[in-house]
Amino acid sequence: MFCTTVFVLTFASYVVAQSTPWGQCGGTGWTGSTTCPTGWACTAMNPYYSQCLQATSSSSLSTVSSLSSPVTSEPATTTAPRSSTSTSTSTLTGIAGTAPTVGPSKKVGKLPALGWNTWNAYGCDIDESKVLAAANQFVSLGLKDAGYEYVNIDDCWSEMSRDPTTGRIVPDPAKFPDGISGVAMQVHNLGLKIGVYSDAGTATCAGFPGSLGNENIDAATFNDWGIDYLKYDNCNVPGNWSDSATPPDNDCNSNSAIRYRQMTAALAAQSRPVQFNLCIWGTANVWDWGVRVGHSWRMSGDAGPTWSYITSIISINVQHLSSIDFFSHNDMDMMEIGNGALTIQEQRTHFAAWSFLKSPILLGTDLSKLSSDQLAIIKNKELLAFHQDSVIVTPAAPFTPSPSAPATNPPEFYAGESSKGIHVFIINTSNTTATKTFNFANVEGLSGRGLFTVHDMWTGKDIGKFSRSYSTRLDAHDTAAFLIESTKKKRSPRT
Ligand code: GAL
Repeated sequence: MFCTTVFVLTFASYVVAQSTPWGQCGGTGWTGSTTCPTGWACTAMNPYYSQCLQATSSSSLSTVSSLSSPVTSEPATTTAPRSSTSTSTSTLTGIAGTAPTVGPSKKVGKLPALGWNTWNAYGCDIDESKVLAAANQFVSLGLKDAGYEYVNIDDCWSEMSRDPTTGRIVPDPAKFPDGISGVAMQVHNLGLKIGVYSDAGTATCAGFPGSLGNENIDAATFNDWGIDYLKYDNCNVPGNWSDSATPPDNDCNSNSAIRYRQMTAALAAQSRPVQFNLCIWGTANVWDWGVRVGHSWRMSGDAGPTWSYITSIISINVQHLSSIDFFSHNDMDMMEIGNGALTIQEQRTHFAAWSFLKSPILLGTDLSKLSSDQLAIIKNKELLAFHQDSVIVTPAAPFTPSPSAPATNPPEFYAGESSKGIHVFIINTSNTTATKTFNFANVEGLSGRGLFTVHDMWTGKDIGKFSRSYSTRLDAHDTAAFLIESTKKKRSPRT
């Protein structure tokens, strides 16, 4: 409840023009657009998620808005949940009332994933050439060398029906003429890994086959194809598999958790280790039990290329930093660098915050269109080193920079440790250029006495030596990133 309240308040000013086809358009906490393009209707999948679906497929539905709570001033055209949310139990034979307790693989997913995903760039308009273009750009743009590894295919990759004989999901031959296995082979040949998407419901959000009740056959299919990463969504959940209220803390036996645990167990039975992402939109207190089920879990509804999305997801995430560990990552959703009208400063904040809060970083744009400034952001060696530190996993956490500093939402000052030392990150949340000051004594791990070398992680250069405090001038919505080193005076040897 608490999280929901904060989410709504934080998002109150978030208004975007219009949702895209298949995009989110409502749900608890959603404050993006609630309108869909002509020919598409905003359809409530469940209380947390409404989505723009083709009007023809939902034309028989009546218009209600009780399931979602949009807080924009835009008129909502939300319709009732699709009938699949109340699928009869007779279609669910094979789903156990409890799930095996096997956990996710420890062979993968120790560090937050670095990669790319089709959704924010292309929505449902995907095909083999776009996926392979991204994979090749990982190599040609130096992203592979920087550590980017996963090339992930989101919703809309399959045919609408399973193979009637084998029961397997069938890749859409028009979009993927080589099948997913053919694409996987080409991605693997580049030294990269491949991810795919499915859903812990009867259908994906865009209406393609979901895996609920078919976990074993789907996990085996993904294994045969060489899949390394699975994003597992939360649409079209039958009524008897939904939680009627938010489950209590640490409820790994809630209906939501069990749906995901079914797939954890199915993946564990395969030979190939799979990094498992729970796309559960921050519901069911997933941060409490996610580590027992997957390697990362979404903390919210869908990202948008807006400053208000960036600040709101940071506000949510800082309440759950204790969930972050090796093999255990709060997912702030896929990157929007290169999309919308984010300023370059906002894009720096986007990347820095995802790095210092150890979220998976999955790029979500047409990589060929990135400018050199954008590439410099996503390839920044020092931020990536903080994000991918294999010794110290703890994220940076908010601190009070001086006794008189005002509180902001989200917090502006963060400090954390990496293998290299102590870091300070400062977000300018105000809409104008501002000077931000912190006392060294207020940073955990620094004594506050003597001289400190302040090193700029963005430029890779030392700025200088300072005592007591440090001030920096930051553009609106920009983030500074520093490594702070104590400089002990060298004593002359005694004679
Ligand atoms: C949403 C999910 C998005 C995207 C979309 C595909 O539920 O949050 O990231 O995967 O489904 O339909």
